[in-house]
Amino acid sequence: MVYGVILAGGVGSRMGNAEKPKQYLQIGEKPIIIHTVEKMYVHPEIEKVLVLCPEQWVSYTKTLLNKYRLPASEIAVLKGGSTRNGTIMNAISYIEEQGDLTEDTIIVTHDSVRPFITHRIISENVRYAQKYGACDTVIAATDTIVESHDGEIISEIPERSKMYQGQTPQSFCAVKLKNLYESLTEEEKQILTDAAKIFAIKGEKVYLVQGEVSNIKITYPYDLRVAEALIKEDRK
Ligand code: CTP
Repeated sequence: MVYGVILAGGVGSRMGNAEKPKQYLQIGEKPIIIHTVEKMYVHPEIEKVLVLCPEQWVSYTKTLLNKYRLPASEIAVLKGGSTRNGTIMNAISYIEEQGDLTEDTIIVTHDSVRPFITHRIISENVRYAQKYGACDTVIAATDTIVESHDGEIISEIPERSKMYQGQTPQSFCAVKLKNLYESLTEEEKQILTDAAKIFAIKGEKVYLVQGEVSNIKITYPYDLRVAEALIKEDRK
């Protein structure tokens, strides 16, 4: 079984919008989260979609899905966790409760605020997760990446040709992710915001899927303006 897991449990503090979390802001004619859910839902290899959002937004999200004619029978809305990985674990717990957690269960985890995900990226995530157990969507770094431990002076400048920027989806064999996550200490769980890193620090291989420059994450108000421009281009 292949699950599309839409991570919408954050509050979007960097967007500075106190009224609602950024995933509910409108771009083009629909809220960001609806664009994202639609892309996942229409993909033929995604058998069920889970949307995880802050508890107080669960009923609003259900209403929104209904308004945009996304069927409740195929899309479950659940409460997210206090961390991004906690949100992913809530998805896995739900899958387990449904009796669907087997060695073959794949989760394609995707940020709700990346509405420009493509059909190809989803297909490759499913294929790689099935073949290798874990994959991460990335693009080659275009800017030089500079590392600084204190935020004041450069510690290192890694070779740019070996640097990538992480996007999502990140896709996993759900049982494997659950087992690795449960083997972390509480301290490690707090530090590890990235699910692929759970595999990486345990010495497990995570394969790279080629992302797209357009697969942006909407984080700041500026990104909303970029997203509006991209939506207009899509409509041409
Ligand atoms: N996310 C989640 N559960 C959390 C935190 C984040 O599902 N506990 C989701 C967000 O909703 C978002 C994605 O992870 O779709 C990427 O995270 P980010 O852009 O950092 O979102 P926020 O945490 O909402 O933003 P901010 O850090 O500005 O508050």
